[in-house]
Amino acid sequence: MDKLIIKGGKKLKGRVDISGAKNAALPILAATLLTDERCIVKNVPMLTDITTMIKILGELGKSVKRVGSTLVVKTQDKSRCVAPYELVSTMRGSICVLGPLVGKRKKAKVSFPGGCVIGPRPIDLHLKGLRDLGIGINVKGGYIIGNGKEIKGTRIYLGGHFGSSVLATANVLMASVLAKGKTVIENAACEPEIADLVRFLKKMGAKIHGAGSPRLEISGVRYLKGCTHALIPDRIEAGTYMLATAITKGDVYLRGGQFDNLLALIDKMREAGVSIEKKGKGIRVRHVKGIKPIDVTTLPYPGFPTDLQAQMMALMAITQGISVITEKIYPERFIHISELNRMGARIVLEGPNAIIKGVEHLSGAPVMASDLRASASLVLAGLVAKGTTEISRIYHLDRGYENLEIKLQKIGADIKRVKE
Ligand code: EPZ
Repeated sequence: MDKLIIKGGKKLKGRVDISGAKNAALPILAATLLTDERCIVKNVPMLTDITTMIKILGELGKSVKRVGSTLVVKTQDKSRCVAPYELVSTMRGSICVLGPLVGKRKKAKVSFPGGCVIGPRPIDLHLKGLRDLGIGINVKGGYIIGNGKEIKGTRIYLGGHFGSSVLATANVLMASVLAKGKTVIENAACEPEIADLVRFLKKMGAKIHGAGSPRLEISGVRYLKGCTHALIPDRIEAGTYMLATAITKGDVYLRGGQFDNLLALIDKMREAGVSIEKKGKGIRVRHVKGIKPIDVTTLPYPGFPTDLQAQMMALMAITQGISVITEKIYPERFIHISELNRMGARIVLEGPNAIIKGVEHLSGAPVMASDLRASASLVLAGLVAKGTTEISRIYHLDRGYENLEIKLQKIGADIKRVKE
């Protein structure tokens, strides 16, 4: 297994290119199951989660050819309907093949997705929405068996204990586009990745209103065709580099960073004293004065993204004063606290609240990556820590960050990948 070696203390300066959005790619690649025609998806990042989704599509009778950042998806066998445990259990996002499979091929057998270190990952909202559409759902031997012989449009409320659900919205949306009649999804997820999925489905011929709003209105159609689509940039990757720039007191231009998709983060970083400006087709982030402590609560979009919580915590760990980060989406998403504390941070957990007492500096140490975004927070801590930080199990990072160490090297970081 590989590990990252980071020597802290370098300011990040220069330009970084933001890749296509992983969390748009996964549902959009799943949506290719809604047609037997060729689909072309552009700006697809080279990530292990994408490789996993390509393998799952292969199990479902699709051929996927990668040409640079473009994927060409064709149909070889439309009778295949089983998404196997050994693949689905490695990536929760694969659950979003269920909706399109049962919507188009009228039957599906998809393994229950595993939980992960950020907490239980229930799918009750996915199954509730699909059942509301008249889809027969049974659970047997760790698999979800879907029967979509009679899918009828209806009104569905998709809000759960933690608010809206991104992939439940994607699944129910994709199951409804070929249904008979009209479907309304209330308390739908408003994430930009869902809006990008809607754009893709409309290019295929779907009739959908309300992209990016909590209410989606779908009029079922009889047939969807292939199409060509370029993914939006990855706002979580962009947010990670914005926080990396702030923590190293740098000055970086993020080419492709979509300012309007990051307003909650920008609001909080400006409150902390970081200079952020929309510039051309990107965002310029500059450290101009001392960073101030702030309080953050994660919420469904357009609230502060849970996927940037760990990275913000790294910045607050070396910010003089007391900061509080409250995690409202995944109350257990704090595995990074113990590793940051091993580097000298002073963070304590009070229920869903992390209380962070800023310290003068962090100290490099051997640490272990765990979930994708917790690992990113360890990279940010290593960039600013005194001494050397070794991060093992970085396959977690390779799931969601394309060429991370190469992009960081290009803007001045002293970071390298070595074989363990
Ligand atoms: C998506 O996961 C993202 N993944 C996650 O990013 C992200 O953290 C999450 O949305 C929240 O923004 C992809 O898009 C592939 P949810 P998803 O359903 O859709 C609860 C990353 O790092 N819930 O929006 O699985 C759930 O437990 C990943 O890129 C139910 O209770 O998340 C959570 O508390 C990590 N029942 C909340 O809703 C359900 O049926 C939001 O989860 C579904 C979800």
